[in-house]
Amino acid sequence: MKILAIDTSCDETSAAVVQDDRITSNILSSQIQFHREWGGVVPSLAKRKHQEMIDLVIELALKRAKKKIEEIDAFAVTKGPGLAVALEVGIKKAKQLALDYKKPLIPINHMEGHLYSALSKNSKGKPEIKYNFPLLALLISGGHTELVLMFDHGKYQIIGRTLDDALGECFDKVGRMLDMGYPAGPVLEKIAEKGDENRFILPIPMQKSGDANMSYSGLKTATMKLINEMIKNPLNIYAKKFANSSKSKTVLKIQQRNTNQSRNQSSNFQLIADISASFQKAAIEQVLLKTKYALEKLEKDKIIIKDLIIAGGVSQNKYLRKKFRKVFAKKLNILYPRNKKLFTDNAGMIGVAAYYNALRRNFIYDKSNIINIDRDPNWRIDEI
Ligand code: KG4
Ligand code: ZN
Repeated sequence: MKILAIDTSCDETSAAVVQDDRITSNILSSQIQFHREWGGVVPSLAKRKHQEMIDLVIELALKRAKKKIEEIDAFAVTKGPGLAVALEVGIKKAKQLALDYKKPLIPINHMEGHLYSALSKNSKGKPEIKYNFPLLALLISGGHTELVLMFDHGKYQIIGRTLDDALGECFDKVGRMLDMGYPAGPVLEKIAEKGDENRFILPIPMQKSGDANMSYSGLKTATMKLINEMIKNPLNIYAKKFANSSKSKTVLKIQQRNTNQSRNQSSNFQLIADISASFQKAAIEQVLLKTKYALEKLEKDKIIIKDLIIAGGVSQNKYLRKKFRKVFAKKLNILYPRNKKLFTDNAGMIGVAAYYNALRRNFIYDKSNIINIDRDPNWRIDEI
């Protein structure tokens, strides 16, 4: 089955052609350079850029796949979650194509797409991917952080999710404070490689919450306070440390392990690298602990997981991969997307998810039903 898929959920305009679970073309037009000026995604600008690029990316996706639009069997589009005004652009285009070419339309959940990004193959059917149900998926991006139990294609249960900020968003906000641009995640990771992750002990919220939910706003605030302290007055942290030891409750609960003051003052870069590394350690520790918690809880409930998908922008982080490998590699087969485009928002993963939906006849034929499809900015994967 040949599907033309569209994703305009955030700041990438993307179209792809898939043949079953094989991606034959996957075109992405990134808007990052425009949003960077404002330090984050500006919805009205995202909408405008999607409108400008949508026809071109579709044309290019067909050209690269060497297909004519008449050869397409179905159209697929991200219906949510995502930015409402951005989703709207892709949905409008997909509806128009389905009606003009009298083909079915498959509305897709964006998180289901991220999950299938790790199960997608290239045009030659590579790589061969082996997995068994039930499996667990850790989806970590700029907008979402969730642990999803997948019983079968189309059968999902969210077993843990962030109650506030997403993991990638937290990297971006901390990195922004350190002048790392947007998106800051990859830059922060690079700088953290040069840092001492044990120099500052930052909080890992929800450790004892007794569930697999997560929270990142406390870590973000603590790191921001630390940055303010250290950058405004590097010596102040020592005063706070002493106040802390005299049991003052109002002080920041950040312990400074390395008390070599001359080193702090002489190297601003080292300070930033150490803050980045300490932040990254705490941020990744939380998803690691929660994944461990989820797996143990499932095992108690006699649900044995053998395959773990890790997908979404943050899954590119090498520190995270190393930690997960160390903790889980013996017990689990860890599946990541295999191609750079598949980590970020892209229509290829939406097309592959659409193929599995089509196998379950999950598509819309009827004209009035196609017209009635609407964006769903908060659509949860377990509401599919
Ligand atoms: O999946 P994605 O491309 O878009 C969304 O659906 O949000 O994820 C983008 C997010 C950004 O927050 C970015 O900073 C983060 O992924 N990211 C990283 C890394 N690469 C991308 N965060 C930490 N380390 C990385 N290497
Ligand atoms: Zn995404």
